[in-house]
Amino acid sequence: MYKALIDRLERDAFLSRDEYLTLIKNRAQCADYLFERARAVRDRYYHSKVYIRGLIEFSNYCKNNCYYCGIRAGNTKAERYRLTPEEILSCADEGYSLGFRTFVLQGGEDPYFTDEMFESIIRQLKARHPDCAVTLSLGERSYESYKRLKEAGADRYLLRHETACKAHYEKLHPSNMSFENRMRCIRDLKALGYQVGVGFMVGSPFQSEEDLANEMLFLKEIKPQMVGIGPFIVHADTPFNIYKSGSAELTLFMLGLIRLTLPNVLLPSTTALGTVDPLGREKGINAGANVVMPNLSPSDVRGKYLLYDNKICTGDEAAQCIVCLKERIKTTGCEIVTDRGDYKYEI
Ligand code: 5AD
Ligand code: FES
Repeated sequence: MYKALIDRLERDAFLSRDEYLTLIKNRAQCADYLFERARAVRDRYYHSKVYIRGLIEFSNYCKNNCYYCGIRAGNTKAERYRLTPEEILSCADEGYSLGFRTFVLQGGEDPYFTDEMFESIIRQLKARHPDCAVTLSLGERSYESYKRLKEAGADRYLLRHETACKAHYEKLHPSNMSFENRMRCIRDLKALGYQVGVGFMVGSPFQSEEDLANEMLFLKEIKPQMVGIGPFIVHADTPFNIYKSGSAELTLFMLGLIRLTLPNVLLPSTTALGTVDPLGREKGINAGANVVMPNLSPSDVRGKYLLYDNKICTGDEAAQCIVCLKERIKTTGCEIVTDRGDYKYEI
């Protein structure tokens, strides 16, 4: 019966909320079949290719206070750092020589970086490496700001929605952040022509299996080009240190469901997944993911961008990480490719 549901999901790329919920509740009995179909669908579009993105974590200052996040403003124990524009550009140069053709600029919401500064960084990045895609992950900004950064040359934007349920959103964030503004940002980014990535944490406090079923309907409605998910992982110096981390097992199942629901989506196997399970990233690829995002930040700041405890790859040089990750991906039978890896609108 579950097999028939999965076959229908593969055929129609859609199920009802109750059908998604049935699969999620009975995942132990159908996960292997789901993963097999998810790999087949991924390979139909992406031919067993896994895209690699160079992540540059340029600042861990953040004005927000999300209850789950280790770099929240209220965490006075976090050791703060900022890269200079020159340092950001030289990370990208190093990444380019290692073969990267997509750079992801990610940081906390750090007001020190103005639109002018981002605009100048993006323009210089694009001038030095015109064959590369620039992905931004800078949090919530105004329409005007998103527009200006798009005009400066940014191609993609990652902004996880964190949860599709407004009441749940309000339990994860303080009252000066709103679900409505997060949705406004996602709408604006789409309207401006960015390739947009959304996403959520699996196993975040107060999340139910019904919420996860709802996530699938939300994704179907938003039609993002990328979806980033990973397990929620406890950070000791946050208000959520009393809760439990999410599991690799449920995250993997959600990856499989996402692949069948949005067949051509760009789907990372995340560092968080590799943190809760030593083989998490490989298992994510085997569940239908097709992107990995190793860290290009300088080694002296890596150990400071800690959204959650026990983050992996904080002690390695970029070059080491690439070699390690390539070896790991090889074990899945997929091949790491270094081109821009744009979203495939058609087969
Ligand atoms: N565990 C797992 N993921 C987290 N993120 C933030 N804090 C945590 C945590 N404790 C995720 C959020 C955010 C992304 C950059 O990292 O989903 O959007
Ligand atoms: Fe960083 Fe393996 S990917 S050490």
